[in-house]
Amino acid sequence: MNDQQNAPLQKPFQLGKIFLPSNVLYAPLAGCSDFPFRQMSAAYKPGLIYCEMVKMDALIRHDQGTFHLLDYEKGMHPIGGQLCGSKPSIAAQAARIIEELGFDVVDLNCGCPVDKITKDGSGSGMLKTPHLIGEIIANMVAAVKIPVTVKIRSGWDEENINAATITQIAEEAGAAAICIHGRTRYQAYKGPANWEHIRACKQVAKRIKVIGNGDITDAAAAQKMFAYTGCDAVLVARGTMGQPWIAEDIYRLLSGQEIRERTLEDCRQALLEHFHHTCSYHSDRRAVLDMRRVGCWYVKKAAGTREFRGAISKAGSIEDIRSLITDFPLTMPAVGEYVAEEAECAECAG
Ligand SMILES: Cc1cc2nc3c(=O)[nH]c(=O)nc-3n(C[C@H](O)[C@H](O)[C@H](O)COP(=O)(O)O)c2cc1C
Repeated sequence: MNDQQNAPLQKPFQLGKIFLPSNVLYAPLAGCSDFPFRQMSAAYKPGLIYCEMVKMDALIRHDQGTFHLLDYEKGMHPIGGQLCGSKPSIAAQAARIIEELGFDVVDLNCGCPVDKITKDGSGSGMLKTPHLIGEIIANMVAAVKIPVTVKIRSGWDEENINAATITQIAEEAGAAAICIHGRTRYQAYKGPANWEHIRACKQVAKRIKVIGNGDITDAAAAQKMFAYTGCDAVLVARGTMGQPWIAEDIYRLLSGQEIRERTLEDCRQALLEHFHHTCSYHSDRRAVLDMRRVGCWYVKKAAGTREFRGAISKAGSIEDIRSLITDFPLTMPAVGEYVAEEAECAECAG
């Protein structure tokens, strides 16, 4: 399934002084884009895989749990580390640690909507202080040779859309790229992303690369994002959950090849593979907890998902999970059933 023999056309993407193999990037996803997730993703050769965000403070005090989140293996290159914090005084040191760990790119998170992050002005709280974004980026750029990127949202809320202004500030500060998630902080992850805001950023960008993000759930959506916004690259987030092959689908569509149809049996096999990676990396207890969630991602298109979800969310051991995955009957949905099942499955997305 992850046969790279006939890998479709991929367009190299220049980011600062480096070339990424393509302009289809996989997003940082806290609690999700862990080592096993990135093992699954790497097989399908996205242009870059970001690790989930880590706090600058925790990194510079050498917190072991934080370093653990940044574990990677050779096959996961190109790989990006993402920093979250609002203190210009520690940004350089934190960026240097990411570089010394061997990361190809370092990103600044200006999008996280969670209260405990925004309360000290970090994450999407930074959207309220664009000058601070510029200051932090400039410190990071001065400290490292790898490209510095920044990930923002459209704005704090509908009344305060400032992504285009921040794009100019980030460009001035030396960022190689800016990723715009076309939702406001107020929206969090709900409602459609507004790609108009991404287009506006592309229109003001001179040197800085613009990466479009929000609602890329399949290859056709990526194609539309490129066409509508004129963005230089796309960042896929929830669309990677349960379909680690989405980059391959996008390459195929953009190069005029037929997209490979994934059967339910393919999905089961991919889930098994994810399960094996999870068991090899995490403790049994953690693996069970993670697989209760991950299990749902891979069976979205199957009828009977509700029963499967019910069963897997109660699974108490690795053995329970293994037999559920291998033995659970998965059938194609009846007409009309798919939409209802998928709507429910959205709960598993984050
Ligand atoms: C569970 C979850 C965790 C996320 N963690 C991060 C993160 O660590 N850093 C970040 O910049 N964005 C994070 N995001 C935001 C995504 O990267 C992305 O911007 C957002 O989901 C919009 O894209 P989508 O509509 O394709 O999902 C997270 C989103 C979800 C659903």
